[in-house]
Amino acid sequence: MEKEDLPYVGAIERMSFTNPWPETSFLGEIENDSISFPFVVVYRPTEQVIGYIIYWKIGDEAQISNVSVHPEFRGRGVGESVIRQILELMVKQGVRYVVLEVRPSNQVARALYHKLGFEVIGVRKNYYKNPSENALVMGRILEGK
Ligand SMILES: CC(C)(COP(=O)(O)OP(=O)(O)OC[C@H]1O[C@@H](n2cnc3c(N)ncnc32)[C@H](O)[C@@H]1OP(=O)(O)O)[C@@H](O)C(=O)NCCC(=O)NCCS
Repeated sequence: MEKEDLPYVGAIERMSFTNPWPETSFLGEIENDSISFPFVVVYRPTEQVIGYIIYWKIGDEAQISNVSVHPEFRGRGVGESVIRQILELMVKQGVRYVVLEVRPSNQVARALYHKLGFEVIGVRKNYYKNPSENALVMGRILEGK
């Protein structure tokens, strides 16, 4: 992800979430390059930004902090492919454990994470706003090479 991607990332974010991150938050991720790894997904035929993923890495732990695919490109394997790719990158970076948070009502994301080997490991009460909802914390161990 680079600064010029931010209008496209921000637009996808606003189409995806009721409580979207402002574009300044994504800029902060780009600038916080000691722990944050933000990527965009580009659709090659048109060079369109169709998704993004951000994770934080601290030591041998990582947290997927945001992931989204443009609504018109969902259901085609993009989300699964991009998470598989970043899990491979994490293994190369020495990450052993990955966590993320998800709304219990987000059945699509939960199904995707479950398919990728994540399990529910905890609950954060009233974590989300608009609408208020708990967060499920999901995690998985990565097999190191
Ligand atoms: C969650 C999200 C990133 C998934 O991306 P995607 O590209 O649509 O997902 P994929 O096409 O790669 O699907 C992978 C798996 O996700 C699940 N999935 C995808 N669409 C689904 C649907 N409509 N219903 C149920 N499960 C679904 C399935 O497990 C699917 O595997 P399968 O095809 O073998 O059934 C996308 O829906 C999205 O951007 N949602 C809005 C933002 C969001 O909720 N982000 C996660 C916040 S924690």
